[in-house]
Amino acid sequence: MTLQQPALLTIIVGCAMLIASCSTSPQGGPRRSKQAFGSVDGNDVSIYTLRNKNGMEARITNYGGIVVSLMVPDRSGKLADVVLGYDSLSPYLTQTSYFGALVGRVANRIGHARFALEGKEYVLAANDGPNHLHGGLRGFNRAVWEVDESTPPSEPTLVLSYLSKDGEEGYPGTLRVKVVYSLSDSNDLRIDYTATTDKPTVLNLTHHSYFNLAGQGVGDILNETVMINADRFTPIDSLLIPTGEIRPVQETPMDFRTPHKVGDRINEKDDQLRLGRGYDHNWVLNRSGDGLSFAARVSEPTSGRIMEVWTTEPAIQLYTGNFLDGKSIGKGGVAYKYRTGLCLETQHFPDSPNRPEFPSCILRPGETFTSSTIYRFSAQ
Ligand code: GLA
Repeated sequence: MTLQQPALLTIIVGCAMLIASCSTSPQGGPRRSKQAFGSVDGNDVSIYTLRNKNGMEARITNYGGIVVSLMVPDRSGKLADVVLGYDSLSPYLTQTSYFGALVGRVANRIGHARFALEGKEYVLAANDGPNHLHGGLRGFNRAVWEVDESTPPSEPTLVLSYLSKDGEEGYPGTLRVKVVYSLSDSNDLRIDYTATTDKPTVLNLTHHSYFNLAGQGVGDILNETVMINADRFTPIDSLLIPTGEIRPVQETPMDFRTPHKVGDRINEKDDQLRLGRGYDHNWVLNRSGDGLSFAARVSEPTSGRIMEVWTTEPAIQLYTGNFLDGKSIGKGGVAYKYRTGLCLETQHFPDSPNRPEFPSCILRPGETFTSSTIYRFSAQ
């Protein structure tokens, strides 16, 4: 059978419309677009904008895999940017807050900046007093990640990879890391991590956005209500290193099994709150099986925005911006004051490389590390 010309034209136009509708958001643009954001050590850096059908939008740079902005609807559909950060690249190059970044090779702290693995001791940068913090002086948050540009722009997905060399920041083994950010039409910002190594190494990857569900720059987070699905947490010493104890949250200000405002108990005379200068602790998640499991929920009363966190990780760090002091000037000229953002960092326990009794963060050749976290947004 041969097709008549008008019929052929109809089919071609139909297919073109189908492709266009798949690759565009309701606002008409593609689901992923790219813009220049500057350069680092001669490498061009871009911002990738992911959009979904509800107008939600995540802008992510391949410098540090940083989420630069995240536009989320409130209960009336009004969008606001719910993460702290900067308008341009240069402050990200020197920031010490880890705004929006991917953190590794080992997120959180390693006591005395050293650990032993298979009988050999490894010495790391002491970049937090005597301890090692968030992967060292040039952690994954300061790397220019490679972008897989072959993923179709019809997909609101950003595929990043990074090759961390053997010995980088003192860690053994060449590590190949891949991180996929994706934005779904049900308002999930999902992060999937995979990694392989050529020598035994240690690994703890997380994401470090500071959320303020009222909108970045709109006051502090003390009125936001938090729930954490954890019966236990890991108490810390004066340098924020776990003591090794795993303590029930019951009858402590760490008990977020039912929702509490961040500010309700944060200034109580409690030893752990004093040591953490507020909440800066690791909760041991209640979980069953290996899949994504509910970890935490934050809700903000004025906007009605809600964020749920789901993860495959064994733990979560709630950090309430206790080191923010107003000196950092962020997006739109806003000074980020004390406790104006909160982080929910899905992770393995801090200092795991020195704690064989904690869930292992060792990765060996032939194994593939996988981890997934979803930040799920809604409003009511
Ligand atoms: C983390 C730590 C905090 C602090 C911030 C960065 O999440 O737990 O103690 O170091 O990063 O300022």
